[in-house]
Amino acid sequence: MKNKTKVIRPGRDLTRFTVSLEDDLLRKFEKRMQKKKYANRSQAIRGLIRADLVQEEWEGGKEVAGAVALVYDHRRRELLTHLTGLQHDFQKLVLSSQHIHLDHDNCLEIIAVRGKAEEIKAFAQLLRACKGVKYGNLTMASTGARI
Ligand code: NI
Repeated sequence: MKNKTKVIRPGRDLTRFTVSLEDDLLRKFEKRMQKKKYANRSQAIRGLIRADLVQEEWEGGKEVAGAVALVYDHRRRELLTHLTGLQHDFQKLVLSSQHIHLDHDNCLEIIAVRGKAEEIKAFAQLLRACKGVKYGNLTMASTGARI
């Protein structure tokens, strides 16, 4: 690659390179960067690249980590049994879970997961599809090892 300068820092090699962007695209990027509170362009670009790498991990069936968040009404007893049963069935994916009582009726359950991307997606979908779950979401994060 042309226009790059090697900057040696202890424990971490950095390469500086030049990027050409349309003015309009750069303006949009800087506006987003400020809104997202990135300290500088390099930090923002690192974030974008890592987000893309994490997406690739999920698409490529790699080992990933994440969190499933579920909101449900705890008064549905059969639902609690079902959700607990699923977590036991997929025990190898479940790192931990946290149950928060949101109000008199509603609960938030956060299940930290780690494993093959496809298995986690399938597990999250089974949880979300449980009758009585009001809202379910899978946060697709990373083990951090490849990014
Ligand atoms: Ni609760």
